[in-house]
Amino acid sequence: MTLEPRLDLNEGRLRLAFGGGKFLAIDFINDRTRYHKPLRGKNELLARALGLHRKPALHIFDATFGLGEDAWTLARLGARVTACEREPLLYELAKNALEAARSHPGMAEVASRVDLRSGDSQEFLRRSQADDQPDCIFLDPMFPESTKTALPRGEMQLLRGWLGSRLKDGSLLESSDRSILDLALGIARERVAVKRPLKSPPLRGGFIHQYRGRTIRYDLYLPGSLESL
Ligand SMILES: C[S@@+](CC[C@H](N)C(=O)[O-])C[C@H]1O[C@@H](n2cnc3c(N)ncnc32)[C@H](O)[C@@H]1O
Repeated sequence: MTLEPRLDLNEGRLRLAFGGGKFLAIDFINDRTRYHKPLRGKNELLARALGLHRKPALHIFDATFGLGEDAWTLARLGARVTACEREPLLYELAKNALEAARSHPGMAEVASRVDLRSGDSQEFLRRSQADDQPDCIFLDPMFPESTKTALPRGEMQLLRGWLGSRLKDGSLLESSDRSILDLALGIARERVAVKRPLKSPPLRGGFIHQYRGRTIRYDLYLPGSLESL
């Protein structure tokens, strides 16, 4: 079943209404489970995958913003994050949430480090200027429903049900993700990290390390590391 949500206003804040009383919201200020998890600083797996344990103030391009959990974590860890989201309704939701965070005294500093753009990351990367290339590029592709992994948490499940329903064939998604990865490797100054379910195949070979968590892992690629493949 295809789930097409609509934007809805709730107490002055946008949310996506899916029908049947199901809503998707982004709340960087109050959603403690998603956006205020205790961080393990330099030991945070995401920090290690992107090299923030060595240089906290890196410029990172998040090519797949989604609900912004990873982008927000990166900004909390000190990174400057430029991000793209290609789904217009999700972009509107995220923009509204970021604006609210920017005017909140406790969140403004972190929110000021996130620069969210609407549109396709591949186009954004192709237009990026040589003098503002990101140090690192982060990809979190939506993996096909058939993948044998633990079900994602509630809101991520809604997101996947909605956006995943447009993908008739998971392999199409995979091949377009591979082309973003190749493009990213030509643009990132230092590294590209791809988030994957722990047991899923890598988007492609040539990674130089895998940072493994309980349910997910990050595959690390370095610019130039695919040339010999
Ligand atoms: C798995 S979700 C990302 C979740 C995100 N890491 C988080 O923490 O919430 C993938 C998101 O990337 C977006 N996306 C996929 N390909 C994209 C592209 N080429 N450009 C911009 N956004 C893209 C999808 O619309 C979806 O919202």
